[in-house]
Amino acid sequence: MNAIAWSEDDLEILHTQIWEALATATTDHSFAWRTPVLASFGLGEPDARTVVLREADPQSRALICFSDHRTRKVAELHINSVAAWCFYDPVARVQLRARGETRVNINNDLAHRIWREMPQSSRRLYASTPKPGERIALPWEIPFGDRPMDNFAVLVTTIRELDWLHLGESGHRRARFRWDRDAWEGHWAAP
Ligand SMILES: Cc1cc2nc3c(=O)[nH]c(=O)nc-3n(C[C@H](O)[C@H](O)[C@H](O)COP(=O)(O)O)c2cc1C
Repeated sequence: MNAIAWSEDDLEILHTQIWEALATATTDHSFAWRTPVLASFGLGEPDARTVVLREADPQSRALICFSDHRTRKVAELHINSVAAWCFYDPVARVQLRARGETRVNINNDLAHRIWREMPQSSRRLYASTPKPGERIALPWEIPFGDRPMDNFAVLVTTIRELDWLHLGESGHRRARFRWDRDAWEGHWAAP
């Protein structure tokens, strides 16, 4: 990952750079933004976990990850669809927080299309008979079922707020962007 020359003073450029960096993170395994934290709040207490960012699309404002629909996060998102994503690049010391409504896609066209393109080794991740988080006797004794596709979920968050923060040697900079009807509105903010 080549270092991003984050714009010093132009919010529009900065916003474009944010989405470019997110797109890069979906393919560049060396970029820490590839594994953000996804937070949800649906079952009475907040919860957060690491996920892999699979797609980032500035046109639809979508951030996408894959999951097992039997996980706690999916149960939470069914109750409260608002999710917060947090990315941190320790090299550039840049944090990005993104928030929006999340749609859980199970057994629909999108889930089927992604499943078809997924390697067998990844499909296995969704094959366990015990639900993720369920108690088992030993960590390597996991029974597998033969319908992993049934457990596969594609989580699509439509982002409506972005909060970018750079911790710089000569000072910190923060910018916030909010989707307002049909355009992004951005401003600088006190860090
Ligand atoms: C580096 C890393 C990447 C992960 N990627 C995903 C992912 O893309 N999707 C996912 O559901 N869980 C992923 N996990 C596992 C989650 O962090 C979490 O343990 C699991 O999904 C259960 O979370 P929940 O009970 O809060 O739903 C990943 C864990 C690590 C350490």
